[in-house]
Amino acid sequence: MAGGWRALLRAARRYPWPTNVLLYAALFSAGDALQQRLRGGPADWQQTRRVATVAVTFHANFNYVWLRVLERALPGRAPRAVLAKVLCDQAIGGPVAVSAFYAGMSILQEKDDIFLDLKQKFWNTYKSGLMYWPFVQLTNFSLVPTHWRTAYTGLCGFLWATFLCFSQQSGDGTFKSAFTFLHMKEAGAVERPPEK
Ligand SMILES: *[C@@H]1O[C@H](CO)[C@@H](O)[C@H](O)[C@H]1NC(C)=O
Repeated sequence: MAGGWRALLRAARRYPWPTNVLLYAALFSAGDALQQRLRGGPADWQQTRRVATVAVTFHANFNYVWLRVLERALPGRAPRAVLAKVLCDQAIGGPVAVSAFYAGMSILQEKDDIFLDLKQKFWNTYKSGLMYWPFVQLTNFSLVPTHWRTAYTGLCGFLWATFLCFSQQSGDGTFKSAFTFLHMKEAGAVERPPEK
């Protein structure tokens, strides 16, 4: 297990771009599959494929380039540099990634207005991201031991992808809509008579 993890990290260092593409495809696909499970109903693999397509064509590459640009502009792990990177990421990287996700999904779903979701959900989603990512990044750099950071970042990315897919398909971009949904579902599960 530890050996496999180390081999994975080594491969990631040697082949950062393909690893990034695979990682993003996996995180977003798994996130979409999870939120579909939680919402109930039959699995919509076409939807998962669209999510993976957006992640592979846009997010994996954008993230790859963006993180390098940020690191070059604001190198190092000193608190000031980390804080500046977090701020830049929230000011530029976050909005770009959220917009590309909503618009990209709408294009693949062949919606009439590819900017409608974006217009309706962007601010909510952006605000949710502002509550989430700076917290994730700062804990990453201050609390999480170095050898767990990749896994921690992956886990947080997975949770975010799950939330993003839920928001795109049935939420409105607020954490509240996701939690309300989960809560109602749980309450419903209690009231419903057991199946089979
Ligand atoms: C967590 O820290 C590592 C470096 O130790 C970095 O590569 C990674 O991007 C960070 N993740 C987040 C979400 O800040």
